[in-house]
Amino acid sequence: METVTTIGAVRERVYAWRRAGARVVFVPTMGNLHPGHVSLIETARRHGERFVASIFVNPMQFGPNEDFAHYPRTPRADEHMLASAGCDLMFMPDVTEIYPHGSERVTRVEVPGLSRILEGEFRPGHLEGVSTVVAKLFHIVEPDVAVFGEKDFQQLTVIRRMVAELCMRVEIVGAPTRRDADGLALSSRNQYLTPAERQLAPVIYATLEAAAARLRGGDAQFASIERSGVQALEEAGLRPDYFSVRRADDLSAPRPETRALVVLAAARLGRARLIDNVQVARPGS
Ligand code: PAJ
Repeated sequence: METVTTIGAVRERVYAWRRAGARVVFVPTMGNLHPGHVSLIETARRHGERFVASIFVNPMQFGPNEDFAHYPRTPRADEHMLASAGCDLMFMPDVTEIYPHGSERVTRVEVPGLSRILEGEFRPGHLEGVSTVVAKLFHIVEPDVAVFGEKDFQQLTVIRRMVAELCMRVEIVGAPTRRDADGLALSSRNQYLTPAERQLAPVIYATLEAAAARLRGGDAQFASIERSGVQALEEAGLRPDYFSVRRADDLSAPRPETRALVVLAAARLGRARLIDNVQVARPGS
């Protein structure tokens, strides 16, 4: 695997691969890689012949009181993990390579509506930061396919909508969430948890699964399911931002007959803010 830091170097490698007829698959990340990220490379390998991963902690998607400065950065370990997973190219740019004029007043990509609900309500500007940097990375790498985790379900939905509406020629592939044995979704932010908090954290997935079980059983009392979810998280000592049942395709409010649902939750626990979701396919009547 080769590591490069400039846009020019990425383009040179990718042009050569494409000229040789290879399909190029891209996995964007913020680094501090764990097996969840590695599983995206494994998914990528089913969709092409050459694999590019980026590691860029994107200042634009962090709010003023968020953890940008303290976000864990482990480039050497990341390089090793990507190389072992079969990645060909790691793109690790500086902030100035991506935002030569600064990230404050940059040309931006916004997916209105979708980026203002759920995460967007509690992290204003976050999803605009994500869609903007992903659009830039797509223009740099020009991949045939890009892989995103379902762990960040709303992010995946925003990216799919951006690609469709801006007629980008990349195919978006979603990859399932990797979890620890107790159900906690793997996340770089789990390391902010104390051992006691780490013991509590699986309650998020357990609560999502309990809601999913009600939905699968035919319960369509969405508001009641949401209230029970919030209450269960609060009783466990977490501070939920939301616990919400939505349509899986566009995250709007479901109707009693909607079949493809997703239950999404975000909660604070100590210094960490954790998000997770569970998809539910309900049988038709
Ligand atoms: P990051 O949080 O590093 O995540 C990179 C990718 O890994 C995302 O697609 C995310 O959904 C996926 N991922 C994280 N944890 C996962 C898990 N437990 N199982 C499966 N996939 C998982 O998401 C971002 O970075 C950024 O917003 C980014 C898209 C790179 C734009 O800056």
